[in-house]
Amino acid sequence: KMEGKCPFGGDRIGGVEGTPPTLSDWYPNRLKVELLHQNGPQANPLGEDFNYAEAFNSINLEELKNEIKSFLTTSVDWWPSDYNNYGPQMIRMAWHSAGTYRIADGRGGAGEALQRFAPINSWWDNGNTDKSRRLIWPIKQKYGSSLSWADLIVLTGNCALEIMGFPTYGFAGGRQDAWEADNATYWGPEVVHDMSKAKSPDEMVSRDKRWRGRNGNADYDLENPLAASHQALIYVNPEGPYANGDPLGSAHDIRVTFTRMAMNNEETVALIAGGHAFGKSHGMVPAAKIGVAPEIAPMEAMGLGWHNPQGKGNAEDTMTNGIEGSWTPNPMQWDNDYLTNLFKFDWEQTKSPAGALQWTPVDKNAPKTPDAHIEGQMNDLMMMTTDIALKVDPEYRAVCEKFLNDFDAFTQAFSKAWYKLTHRDMGPRERYLGPEKRNENDLLWQDPIPLADYTIIDAADVAELKKAILATDISVSDLVFTAFSSAVTHRQSDKRGGANGARLALAPQKDWEINRRTVPVVAALQKVMADFNGTDKDSKGGKQVSLADLIVLGGCAALEKAAADAGVPTEVPFTPGRRDTTQELTDIEMFTWLKPVADGFRNFLDNDFNQLAKHVAPEEMFLDKAQLLSLTSPEWVALTGGLRAMNANYDNSKHGIFTDREGVLTNDFFNVLTSTDYEWKKSDSRGMTFWLKDRTSGENRYSATRADLVFGSNSQLRAVAEVYAGKDGHQRFVKAFVKAWDKVMMLDRYDVKVAAR
Ligand code: HEM
Repeated sequence: KMEGKCPFGGDRIGGVEGTPPTLSDWYPNRLKVELLHQNGPQANPLGEDFNYAEAFNSINLEELKNEIKSFLTTSVDWWPSDYNNYGPQMIRMAWHSAGTYRIADGRGGAGEALQRFAPINSWWDNGNTDKSRRLIWPIKQKYGSSLSWADLIVLTGNCALEIMGFPTYGFAGGRQDAWEADNATYWGPEVVHDMSKAKSPDEMVSRDKRWRGRNGNADYDLENPLAASHQALIYVNPEGPYANGDPLGSAHDIRVTFTRMAMNNEETVALIAGGHAFGKSHGMVPAAKIGVAPEIAPMEAMGLGWHNPQGKGNAEDTMTNGIEGSWTPNPMQWDNDYLTNLFKFDWEQTKSPAGALQWTPVDKNAPKTPDAHIEGQMNDLMMMTTDIALKVDPEYRAVCEKFLNDFDAFTQAFSKAWYKLTHRDMGPRERYLGPEKRNENDLLWQDPIPLADYTIIDAADVAELKKAILATDISVSDLVFTAFSSAVTHRQSDKRGGANGARLALAPQKDWEINRRTVPVVAALQKVMADFNGTDKDSKGGKQVSLADLIVLGGCAALEKAAADAGVPTEVPFTPGRRDTTQELTDIEMFTWLKPVADGFRNFLDNDFNQLAKHVAPEEMFLDKAQLLSLTSPEWVALTGGLRAMNANYDNSKHGIFTDREGVLTNDFFNVLTSTDYEWKKSDSRGMTFWLKDRTSGENRYSATRADLVFGSNSQLRAVAEVYAGKDGHQRFVKAFVKAWDKVMMLDRYDVKVAAR
């Protein structure tokens, strides 16, 4: 008898959707193709038509800033402000929001307010930033969807600096919030998040697996793409490596990690010394007594974590990181006291009430600092091991000395470094919104592309230029390869790279092995460009074509030919307006980070792949790249199949070129990939390359890499490949390919799609 029984079919419920074990518990090493579909429109309550740029631009920024500023100096009882000013804790919130950025893959950063979601919201280093965000909720609520969390967090940091006498360099809105946790970013190999709860330094070392050759070895290095020294930290442990209190070792860690954030010595000192001019550290209670992080806090905590059971649990009893005290006698004022005192006094190690290692002036007559809550109480100044590091490291010390002697230079350096820190993952300036954005060309980290001082080509010119390109002796395949190579560097993470600017023709990209095939093509296109533009700028009524546009147009023209040759004549969309930039405006070191170790689209693996990517398979790197291009799985599959049809392998190899009609947009790649007429055999011991053997003749017919066979071996990708291989698949494939192609060509065109994420 079934009445009254649970609809799950029995008298007990054992699990629901998502209850472990799930697919990834059974097959942890499977290629997680579904990660391409994260943070999709389904998760976004604002709907796909919502235009954030329009909404943000409707805000009166000055009014908003005044509201934030007056809130900062109005303390509320549930979380009273230190010194009656929330400014410093908001600066820390904004810095931690931006500080997750790492240049290697462009992920992290302030751009999507990922600080709201796990794991970041629950990292020990983000202690009590949950309170900071909750404190500004009334402002967020008032402005609703016109003000993203991501923008509000950075803007509040700016307002905080300003009310304490610091001149900020600027502010741009335009960050669009994520709507779900980022489930894919690699934050490091350690499983345990909470380094502070390790019972011994040894245990910390064993939890910390990301370093090679720590403890002074010459090849001391941090694994890529990571930028933090430990799991769950924004950058480095304030108590020194493994909390060992060693300032020189700490300087070493600071340099490695801040370089990964693309900050040089001067910027690093400016940021740390600038930030620690304000506020205080909180360490009144041993970490062991503090409650769990927000993501696993009890329901009634409503998203807040780290419950502090001691005394008031806040104000003078606050426990955040564990270190206690402030750096300067006047922590609510922008001044040079941090560096002055750091250098004026000798510092000795001591312990906070929570038991953390910190430093205090040896000279007992050194200035003291008022308590943040208890009237009349004066406390010793405090430095962290990471602060002492700036004094003992010779290069940091030189910067400190410069700033000590020139407060204006320090102010200017911190101001610019803060702007860079908080805006650097926003991409081109076209994405910047609001009256306080800066438009100079001199911020090299923005990868500037000068504005056009000519008229953009029109449809008639496009038609003429296509003919001119196809009339050269560049092959269809080379044209496609070159256009794709110029666009594929783009990454949606920090919105760097891409075809705009024609940086393919500049160092370092022009010198990369993977781009060698593009060099003669670019030279030929430069000739087409010179012919069209002429010597007189006004000869075509002021119209000019950019190299960036020509490179993309070459690919489009070639594809139209290839589609027609395949019997599926198709128009390949082309939107002119890309501009060219210069070598001077290209930071070679910062662009070298975009150099691929692997690129499945062009069937490229660095010679040192196994050295460089010890625990990662080529197909995983390929998936990572597809995600950085914001491709869906059908787009990824179609794009690769089309590039193989066009023979867009970087070295002209035959891997994955399963066709006798190269340069024709057939679906042969998918036909062969899914065919049962063949079997695949490894052709090297590591299983990096394969032969496809004809089952009947026994002959080796084609060769392939992992970046080819993954589309037939992985079940989710195979399902898509089967569609493109179907009887009705060719047309659908060509359509899907052209759409994906256009998407990639347009990824960095924020000039024509301002509201794009
Ligand atoms: C506070 C560490 C860099 C701004 C703190 C605290 C720690 C810390 C442990 C105390 C947190 C608490 O218990 O409340 C570090 C380390 C850094 C670093 C290890 C890098 C080596 C920066 C940077 C900025 C900054 C780059 C900003 C530009 C602040 C501010 C506070 C603070 C304003 C005071 C927060 C408050 O008063 O509530 N930092 N920090 N820090 N940090 Fe940093």
